[in-house]
Amino acid sequence: MSIFPDDFIWGTATAAHQVEGNNTSNDFWLLEHVEPTLFVEPSGDACDHFHLYEQDVRLLKELGFNAYRFSIEWARVEPEKGEFSNAVLEHYRRMTTYVRDQGLAPIVTLQHFTTPLWFAREGGFEAKDAPEHFANYASVMADVLGDVWGTVCTINEINLPMRFLEDRVLGDPVRLTKYHDAARHRCGAEEFSSFFLGDIEKAAEGMKKSHRRAVEAIRARGSKAPIGVTLAIQEEQAIAGGEEVRDRARKRCVDEFLDITKGDDFVGVQTYTRSIYGPEGRVPLAEGTETTQMGYEFYPEALEQTIRYTAAYTKLPVFITENGIGTDDDSRRIAYVEAALEGVKNCLADGIDVRGYCYWSMLDNYEWMLGYRPTFGLIAVDRITQTRTVKPSARWLGGFIKQVND
Ligand code: BGC
Repeated sequence: MSIFPDDFIWGTATAAHQVEGNNTSNDFWLLEHVEPTLFVEPSGDACDHFHLYEQDVRLLKELGFNAYRFSIEWARVEPEKGEFSNAVLEHYRRMTTYVRDQGLAPIVTLQHFTTPLWFAREGGFEAKDAPEHFANYASVMADVLGDVWGTVCTINEINLPMRFLEDRVLGDPVRLTKYHDAARHRCGAEEFSSFFLGDIEKAAEGMKKSHRRAVEAIRARGSKAPIGVTLAIQEEQAIAGGEEVRDRARKRCVDEFLDITKGDDFVGVQTYTRSIYGPEGRVPLAEGTETTQMGYEFYPEALEQTIRYTAAYTKLPVFITENGIGTDDDSRRIAYVEAALEGVKNCLADGIDVRGYCYWSMLDNYEWMLGYRPTFGLIAVDRITQTRTVKPSARWLGGFIKQVND
């Protein structure tokens, strides 16, 4: 008998901007085209998933998944403030219905890093009326998808910008300010605030409020689907003397965001690796450590700990909305997922309520500033012909799912 419950959700995840292509009315499109840009290449056609979603969803079904997590591109739905596109709303309704009709539970994320350009120009999540705009968009989506979506994630990795700030991953602040000025100049807006550009602490407060307002708005429209927010959570270890530094960083980057999940139906956990803290902060990786294409330590065991931490902290069900690896060695992907799932099993065996697992990502896609170089997909994409090639890891995971369900 398998430890995985019969209704365990087995999915893969994508995000609109990383796969759809030609999301020209959002803030990232602008940031990709500012000169000089911090992005190695623009997103362009991406995987043309906007048009090819049917074949992609059919592949998932054939492989044995029972869910698909994708995001709605707010900038397509509301390209100008208050101006909603019926044609685009229809597209997402068709797509969500198609996913459901193929026997997959649609897990819909409302905001995955990108926002409409008009929203960024008005100060993004820093602006006073941001929660109102976001809740308005959320209620429009609830009206359009409320009877077909299976699960809703409001904001993806709501804590990630704070993590960036804490870990200073965005590099030289002078360069960043110059880049921010160039972005402002390009769109002619003083207030321009986007995912990693602007007053991150202020934007974090706006995102927290926006999440809560969206949950209320969606429920008020009568949707019965479980709703939650997702967080980027790494396992955070400390060597002797590093405990306080670790705990301080974790409070600011994780706990203060978990605090806003009260009243939600689950917490989305997204884990890729671990970090280790010493008295001086993050300890660099030891010589010879196996790393992924992202430069992260290959450490799938992190997932078990982040599930345990989140469940204990929030007392809510945990949904692994992302876990995966960027690698060009597909056998390491299999090893990674196999070890991560061992951790999930241990959590289930201890009675922790884990609802599902979504591998990031279905397709090799646009990895933001790093362009198309990192390959996280279970399915490879030839971006000239848009041909899909299923990797052995996809078949392996499909086989694993089949085996636990037999
Ligand atoms: C994000 C994805 C990203 C993935 C791999 C997560 O932080 O939600 O958009 O592609 O990690 O880096």
